Parts: sequence; structure tokens; C-alpha cells
Amino acid sequence: MTINILTVGDVTGAQGCEYLRRRLPTLKRMKAVDLCIVNGENSAAGNGITPASAQELFNAGADLITTGNHVFRRREVYDYLDHSLSVVRPANVYAGNPGRGFAIADFGSVRVGVFNLLGNAFMEGANPFTAADDVLKELTDCRIVLCDFHAEATGEKRALGFYLDGRVSAVFGTHTHVQTADEQILPGGTGYITDLGMTGPVQSVLGVKPPIIISKLKTGMPERFDVADGECMLNGCLFTVDRATGKTEAVERINIRG
Ligand SMILES: [Fe+2]
Repeated sequence: MTINILTVGDVTGAQGCEYLRRRLPTLKRMKAVDLCIVNGENSAAGNGITPASAQELFNAGADLITTGNHVFRRREVYDYLDHSLSVVRPANVYAGNPGRGFAIADFGSVRVGVFNLLGNAFMEGANPFTAADDVLKELTDCRIVLCDFHAEATGEKRALGFYLDGRVSAVFGTHTHVQTADEQILPGGTGYITDLGMTGPVQSVLGVKPPIIISKLKTGMPERFDVADGECMLNGCLFTVDRATGKTEAVERINIRG
């Protein structure tokens, strides 16, 4: 018996939320998805995540939401993070920050733990390797565990994948908004992809209107990041995991457009 777990890359702005709402229900039916994990840290207009944008992701079909380095950008989400059992912030932030670093989905015969980590390279996450060790001590009753590693550097992401190989069911990267083609099953049975990619506008720089980013990089002056319009895509990865062993049996990269 297996369980199908769909992971969806960073949903960006209202455009990304709307596209997710349009495409996710059919995708879940087609792939017989049992659990859907969506990275929502860029789901609010103006970046970050708010209670309203989280609710949009749940309405679209997300079961659990992971986040990343922008999770604390909006003050109105702090209280929500403290009380939600389905929205996860990175585990390796400062002690006492709002929210919690993992969530558990209970399927009766099997419990699925999901945790979120920030990278350390070009980012501010405290040592993600030892943080993963600490979180796993909290998830010993979960036969299936997935890690959303929200990080910038591909080397750091692949290293964490191998570090957790055989100890978790899957490690999927988020944050770069560019999908990698290295989906695989590591030797110990852990499903892996360096980055899921993004759910948002195709003709963009990581979701933002290109002229805005070009201007910022050309002049060094701050800019308001408006999400681009036009055709959208839904990027993610489907992990088929054995319920008895917790090992991944199949990995399928998802890239839907139009
Ligand atoms: Fe991010």
C-alpha cells in the first residue's frame, strides 16, 4: 500500500493562488493524491503569507502549508502561525519566534510528519543539519516524514538530501522558483528534488515583472515587487511512498502550464 503525496512549489501572489485554485483539484484527482503540501510563503499580495492567503491555498486544496524566509514579513500572520496546526514555518529560526516547525497529518494507520528548514548558505537559517536531527526526535511516531528545505544553494540542498537519506521519506527544495530536473530516489529510499519550482507567472523573474527586477539590479534602488501577469504554471513533485516502510517508490516531477 502506498500513499501519494503532492508537493507544490512556491505559490506567488494572487496570480499564483488563482492558478492553483483552477488547476489543483483536477491534478489531485488525476494523480489520486492523498496529501497535498503547498509552499505558501509568497502567496500574499506584496509578498509573505497572511491568514487570508493561507485560506486561499486551503480552499484550492492544500492540506498543509510550508513557508520560508518571508514567513514573518506580515505581522497579521504571527498569531495565526501560533494557532494553526496546518501552517509550518522553518524549524531553524530564532527560539520564541511565532509558529511551529513541523506538522503532522494523521491517516489513522500511518502518521505523516512534515517539517520545514531554512538554508544557511546566502540565508539566515541556523545549521539545518543539526536542526533536522532535532526535529526528527519530535517525529519518531511518524512512519512517513517529508522535509521542505527552503534554501538558495543547490549544493547545500543536495547535501541535506543525502544527510537525511534513509531517515525521511522525501526531501524537496523550495525558494529558487526555478524547477530542477534532478528528481530521484536516493540510495536509502528518500525521494528528492533540489527545487520544486514556482506556481505563478511564466514570463517573470521568479514571479515578478521583469522590468522591475531589471531596474532594481541596474540602479541599486528599491522597487515594489509586482507579480507579473499572463500565462501561469504549476510546478511541483509527486512522491509515492510505501505506507509500511516509509520509503519512496516513485517520484514524478509536475510542470503544468496554460
Ligand atoms: Fe523564499
